[in-house]
Amino acid sequence: MRIRPLLSVSRWTLASVGVLLLAMTSGCRQDMQNQPKMIPQRGTTFFASGRSVRPEVLHAVARNQLDANEYFHTGLIDGKEQDAMPFPVTMTVLLRGQERYNIYCMPCHSRVGNGRGMIVERGYTPAGNLNETLIRNKPISHYFYVMTHGYGAMPDYSAQITPPDRWAIAAYIRALQLSQDATMKDVPVGVAVQKLSEVSEQMGYAPNFVGDWAIPQQTDVSSANVLKSAGATVRNDATSAATAKAAPATSKGKK
Ligand code: HEC
Repeated sequence: MRIRPLLSVSRWTLASVGVLLLAMTSGCRQDMQNQPKMIPQRGTTFFASGRSVRPEVLHAVARNQLDANEYFHTGLIDGKEQDAMPFPVTMTVLLRGQERYNIYCMPCHSRVGNGRGMIVERGYTPAGNLNETLIRNKPISHYFYVMTHGYGAMPDYSAQITPPDRWAIAAYIRALQLSQDATMKDVPVGVAVQKLSEVSEQMGYAPNFVGDWAIPQQTDVSSANVLKSAGATVRNDATSAATAKAAPATSKGKK
């Protein structure tokens, strides 16, 4: 018995209807292609000036951009730096300043502010020693100003650090300076002072941890050593043997 080829006929019909529908819909784009908007910096005939970007209305202040307190935002009064904080310094402010300092300033100025951070140790322009008399004697808003505008080889940090955080860092710099220049007179009566080396030993570091730290003169990153650390067997030449012996000593380095 012969089966009628009904199925194949309807398949052809379906296919042609599909193609027809596709052709009809692809003609019109009801998407967001055309909008009544201005593309940034593109001109227009709508305004007489030909500019689509409208100039700011004079004296208008955007939300959260009110600089009512000039000193808070500039660190200057009548163009002069001042030795005053624009808000009270609390422990919270100092801890915030310490945290921000250790993120943004420590890489160049080091944790104690002596200007020997890791970036400088690796060749960057020596950063200011925040404990030296000249910088120490600057009014506190000088530090705020330096962070806001940069200073010589130092880039500015106005985009990364908000004004309140810049002030918190400035306050922390004062605390750092005190910590690096305190005398026995600054210690309250009856408080025992421990040696720094004792403290570091208690914390599990070697006694020489608080001493000067020097970078090893030769850092051997030859392919032989890289291969060796990856587990490959290579000829053990004199250089790599010396590096292998020096490694445990250098890993005790600190900062
Ligand atoms: C990329 C490295 C780098 C970083 C990060 C950096 N500084 Fe500096 N800083 C320098 C250098 C370099 C100088 C010396 C600039 C010069 O004398 O040309 C300097 C100088 C200074 C001075 C001394 C200005 C003077 O009166 O002599 C202060 C204060 C200072 N930095 C504060 C900061 C603070 C606060 C931060 C963190 C927000 C910071 N720096 C982050 C590199 C850096």
